[in-house]
Amino acid sequence: MANKTVCVVGLGYIGLPTAALLATNGYQVVGVDLNTHAVDTINKGQIHIVEPDLDAYVRSSVAAGKLKAYTKPEQADIYMICVPTPFHEGGDIPQPNIDYVLAATRSIAHLVTPGDLVILESTSPVGTTRRMGEVLQEAGVDLSTVHLAYCPERVLPGKIMIELVENDRIVGGLTPEATKLASNFYRTFVRGEVLETDASTAEMCKLTENSYRDVNIAFANELSLLCAKVGINVWRLIELANRHPRVNILHPGAGVGGHCIAVDPWFIVARDPENARLIRTAREVNNYKMEWVINQIKIAVADASAKTGGKPKVACLGLAFKPDIDDLRESPALHIALRLQANGYDIVAVEPNIGDHNGLSLVDLEEALATADVLAVLVKHKQFLAPLVKTELYEAGALDFCGAIK
Ligand SMILES: NC(=O)c1ccc[n+]([C@@H]2O[C@H](COP(=O)([O-])OP(=O)(O)OC[C@H]3O[C@@H](n4cnc5c(N)ncnc54)[C@H](O)[C@@H]3O)[C@@H](O)[C@H]2O)c1
Repeated sequence: MANKTVCVVGLGYIGLPTAALLATNGYQVVGVDLNTHAVDTINKGQIHIVEPDLDAYVRSSVAAGKLKAYTKPEQADIYMICVPTPFHEGGDIPQPNIDYVLAATRSIAHLVTPGDLVILESTSPVGTTRRMGEVLQEAGVDLSTVHLAYCPERVLPGKIMIELVENDRIVGGLTPEATKLASNFYRTFVRGEVLETDASTAEMCKLTENSYRDVNIAFANELSLLCAKVGINVWRLIELANRHPRVNILHPGAGVGGHCIAVDPWFIVARDPENARLIRTAREVNNYKMEWVINQIKIAVADASAKTGGKPKVACLGLAFKPDIDDLRESPALHIALRLQANGYDIVAVEPNIGDHNGLSLVDLEEALATADVLAVLVKHKQFLAPLVKTELYEAGALDFCGAIK
């Protein structure tokens, strides 16, 4: 199989690592992205995203002539679609946006020939692989000769090059033959187990994994609200409850962010709002947590203002959507800081993982500790956990929304 050519459409956090891994496993890889900066960077053997070890994979694949990037798809034996799947903003229930997937499918339609394998990796609502088949058919492809399959990606940013190989994979084709062909393809470069199913189950499996996380975080977030009202330390409570042999409560935070867990459950809710009641409520609880945090900060500011008479300065500690990364996508902490600023509050932010931000004034931790009247720890970055910093935050009466001080 390794003498085959693979065309990877979408060279972001998923597509580029996958393309580079395939290239180092002997495949001839054509990478495609609409972003010319990404294409030019990759063809120089460099990377346009931050991910450990990826640079070495790309450098060696490009130097060996195994990976070349283009702005348009090229003929291949296997096509992999790794483009974004956001939701449409607005409305009561955000609706999945599969426009990028359908556009990418249209872009390969004229190249697909009998016997080819077309795989979707983007997190997608149930039925998207089938819809891709319809798009190919509309473009004149004889679907009975082409194999379509879905294989969701479950990697953790920061460990992508390891997890691409080690994680178990779920592969579901539109036909049993497509499932078999796609699974055998993954087995050539994945060390984890490759589990076979049908396309709809594989699509639902990815959405289920992220909804499971969202629901469990919502439980922890709801507990944090209940505890705050009656003066119980939720962190200690969870620690104690988790000593039960069959209880494992997750940690509350300032909300739920990122482009996966905060997005994908809506794909289930949008499809069947009547039955997806728990999943929808979890999304609402996690979104409400951000509003609650904003209100807590506003109360602390009012108290500080009553004491000093001036306009208190608020330092938001952390902007990323989770600890020790630079990713601000769908970040509750960023949302909270920007909303407070838009409401006229005097906001500075400490985010050790980014250099600057065009909407917020970034300061270092020392300056925040020395000058802020209200400190709000929004993300549990390692810089905030140093013993001396924790003591200082505690003594300054910092609001702790992520269990940094406990
Ligand atoms: N990043 C993760 O950790 C992660 C984990 C699991 C699943 N996913 C899923 O994988 C998919 C891709 O995510 P990502 O993080 O790689 O996104 P990304 O935004 O980093 O990359 C997507 C790339 O696709 C390109 N693109 C869009 N339309 C195109 C087209 N028609 N032709 C060619 N290129 C096109 C964009 O320019 C972009 O570079 C999403 O569905 C996401 O939910 C991501």
